[in-house]
Amino acid sequence: MNQRLSEITEKITRSLQEVIREYEVTEEEWMQAIQFLTQVGIKDEFILLSDVLGISVLVNNLTHSHDHEDHATEYNVVGPLYRENAPLLKTPAKLCSIEESDQPLVMSGQIVSVDGKPIQNAIVDVWQANEKGDYENEDPNQKDYNLRGRIEVDEDGKYQFTSVVPGGYEIGKGGPVGELLKRIGRHAWRPGHIHFKIEAEGYKPLTTMLFIPNDPWIDSDAISAVKDSLILNLKKTDSPSDKEKYSLDKAFFICEYDFKLIANNQ
Ligand code: BEZ
Ligand code: FE
Repeated sequence: MNQRLSEITEKITRSLQEVIREYEVTEEEWMQAIQFLTQVGIKDEFILLSDVLGISVLVNNLTHSHDHEDHATEYNVVGPLYRENAPLLKTPAKLCSIEESDQPLVMSGQIVSVDGKPIQNAIVDVWQANEKGDYENEDPNQKDYNLRGRIEVDEDGKYQFTSVVPGGYEIGKGGPVGELLKRIGRHAWRPGHIHFKIEAEGYKPLTTMLFIPNDPWIDSDAISAVKDSLILNLKKTDSPSDKEKYSLDKAFFICEYDFKLIANNQ
């Protein structure tokens, strides 16, 4: 017998019964709840339900609670939009065409150990939505693997990429989870963010996401994933020297972020 499973089951059962007693839930309401969960299963939305209830982020936080010691970069959930085998790119990389964009972004930084040593063999796997908040695999107007790439850092552990400032992402509203959010008066928006999965031999892989400051949804993320240490410091520049340095011919946003990884033996 599994003692831990037995205790958790007992506790969930008691909590659920307490809510049902407090609200005097009727048979009709309980059948609706069961039908809702059945639909969640049929539409494969259990992870999404866990996301919007804040449980995915909570479990991720608990799993990595010790990994933040020594000021290593905070973890975050991978989310449903990760794709393996993104194009392998050398730094400085280009994640999309910025010709049409009025908010190009140049992001750069360094991958270091918690004691500040550059990690030369790191691969920075990055994926994000476009300015409208659309991911390439959900948008027929974008090229395959647009705004995705696995960037090889240079000999100082540094990376740089050009992309665009991602817009807020609205979680699909067509299924049972979207319907629930509507019925309880909750929006389904996530603030603009960029995902990262960073791997290097000898270090624990880091999965996280960085957020666009001043996004309208930054204080009410539908999956409660925002952490202060993961909010970018974004600046707009129109200076001729910056444009020359990054070979851009219009104003753009710029930000730097260093990622601190924990060694395997720590
Ligand atoms: C996202 O990272 O974009 C995401 C995460 C959870 C649910 C839906 C989207
Ligand atoms: Fe995302």
